[in-house]
Amino acid sequence: MKTVFVTRRLPQPALDKLADHAQLRVNPEDRVLTREELLAGVRGVEALLPLLTDTIDAEVMDVNPDLEIIANYAVGFNNIDVGAATARGLPVTNTPGVLTETTADLAWSLLMATARRLVASDQFLRAGKFTGWGPMMFLGVDVWGKTLGIVGMGQIGRAIARRAIGFQMKSIYHDVVRLPAEAEEALSATYVEMETLLRESDFITLHVPLTAETTHLIDAAALELMKDTAILINTSRGPAIDERALVRALQDGGIAGAGLDVFEQEPALAPGLAELDNVVIVPHIGSASIETRTKMAMLAVDNILARFAGEPLLTCVNPEVLG
Ligand code: GLV
Ligand code: GLV
Repeated sequence: MKTVFVTRRLPQPALDKLADHAQLRVNPEDRVLTREELLAGVRGVEALLPLLTDTIDAEVMDVNPDLEIIANYAVGFNNIDVGAATARGLPVTNTPGVLTETTADLAWSLLMATARRLVASDQFLRAGKFTGWGPMMFLGVDVWGKTLGIVGMGQIGRAIARRAIGFQMKSIYHDVVRLPAEAEEALSATYVEMETLLRESDFITLHVPLTAETTHLIDAAALELMKDTAILINTSRGPAIDERALVRALQDGGIAGAGLDVFEQEPALAPGLAELDNVVIVPHIGSASIETRTKMAMLAVDNILARFAGEPLLTCVNPEVLG
């Protein structure tokens, strides 16, 4: 039997399925492995199942030339040096599709919560400060009917656009590739240049992969272009935003609010961010539903089992290595 190294405990049904076909080596503790533990764990296994919190670079790959697959437990794979894997003929897989709707739900939750000040008003009530209904209490802004700017129109961006139809919003989007006209029509979304999106949107939501091009996509200059009433939502990757510049914009009224699931130096937050009452911040829970986390684990496991069986991989990000 081949051995699989799983860097952190995952939903049990997936581990059970893997155990039927392979030996398991699972991080016994519910925490991120240290670099040394990661390097030690990779030795002598045929498959690695890492998380987005594990940095899988050439050094990790070179510890074990017998590695046959890296099956990332995330749709994003910026934690893996895919170029180094490809150079070693090593396939890398991710978990697209299964988390699309769940992540869109969370982005939407952040948007609503920020617009209607849910967290601040919840804290107010719990603190015993609610002495009665007030006409000027916790006034937020409307969501319905507003202009929504979607940056990145992949699967998750499109799931966001579908939801926006129900809120009678005007959706505009920017991406490096434009959707076919029928798709734009079905999603009721209009393609615009990035600058137009920044200037015209009431809400801006990011759904880009993290690459050199998307790092600090939202920087001080981009924030400057946004309306001072704009609300920024990020459920993609923290470094897509210059978080210090965002804190300044939120402090100075450059924009009105932000709803963030991801952070530039995760798990650390930029100084001042957590003190702001116009932000809603949650700890990278975009895909965190019971159903979806189980499907993600199953997909990673199925990729590994396909590799062991010599069958086509389900979701390979560097299929060229398999010829
Ligand atoms: C989560 O952030 C993922 O990339 O799956
Ligand atoms: C608000 O609760 C209202 O009834 O207007």
